[in-house]
Amino acid sequence: MILPIVTSPRTRRALPLIDLAPVADDLLRDALAGLTRPARTLPCKYFYDDLGSDLFDQICALPEYYPTRTELAISRQHAAEMATACGPHVRLLELGSGSSTKTRVLLDHLRSPAAYLPVDIARDFLRASADAIAAEYPDLPVQPVCADFTGPLAHHLANHHTLSARRTIVYFPGSTIGNFPDPDAVALLTNIAALLGDHGGLLIGVDLRKDIAILERAYNDSQGVTAAFNKNLLVRLNRELAADFAVEQFTHHAHYDREFGRIEMQLISRRRQAVHIAGQRIEFREGEPIVTEHSHKYTLAGFAALAAAAGLHVRQVWTDREQLFSVQYLTPA
Ligand code: TRP
Repeated sequence: MILPIVTSPRTRRALPLIDLAPVADDLLRDALAGLTRPARTLPCKYFYDDLGSDLFDQICALPEYYPTRTELAISRQHAAEMATACGPHVRLLELGSGSSTKTRVLLDHLRSPAAYLPVDIARDFLRASADAIAAEYPDLPVQPVCADFTGPLAHHLANHHTLSARRTIVYFPGSTIGNFPDPDAVALLTNIAALLGDHGGLLIGVDLRKDIAILERAYNDSQGVTAAFNKNLLVRLNRELAADFAVEQFTHHAHYDREFGRIEMQLISRRRQAVHIAGQRIEFREGEPIVTEHSHKYTLAGFAALAAAAGLHVRQVWTDREQLFSVQYLTPA
């Protein structure tokens, strides 16, 4: 008997993932380094495991969290101009791509882009998002890169075949740049400038200074999603490093620090307690905070100065009517 050949509709996939991801050793080393110093911290890049990335998508949809929807609206309104600034046949490299929602707006307007390279630290989440983009844009090669983008990416991607593209555009939305202290932000922008070469461009989302009440509401939502996202750091340390945080004994806290122009995110110990990680005992006082993230808010002049320190020039700025958020196009000076 001859069986009929059944062909399932083929879903176009992303290219095999390039894996430059950090290992568990880094998490242990970074967690211990942060938790054993007098002012305790945990590095914010570790928020974004697959669950954290999911929770972050939920944050982006919260009514209080203005950055995502404002940036999306700015992008929708000015996508044609942004695409013109970027030029034709570019390879688009996105840092911290997440679910690539804003990217679709840009891709819909770019003229025959040569390739899309989403870079993210959450491996499975990245694979799924890259496949989704590949299925939606059948003519676009999609090359996911699992990596910590604070590392030297240029070196790894320099010889990648999409180099045949005319230019590299780095896309860095979400004001993620604000999660770095100024010196680190300059270092990251300097790395980005290295990726751009002489002819590339950077399209970046930059959150702006505004009324403190609006800012604080954005990081203290009424549904507790932000709290869950913040505490997921501890859940992750318990799971991946066999730590024994009593997660419910820490409280999410976020406030705006006027002096530094930034939101400070904390997890506050509700009581005196001890936690163990890899044989190390770490003691917390009642009320003692672990600082988990800063989110800097900029003036236009302040951000231009930061970029200039990395050799990047602001060419165009798009904002919303209330000047809550900005998308900016920069090129090497
Ligand atoms: N990059 C985002 C921001 O600074 C990250 C973020 C949003 C975040 N909400 C958070 C980080 C809550 C920790 C906790 O806006």
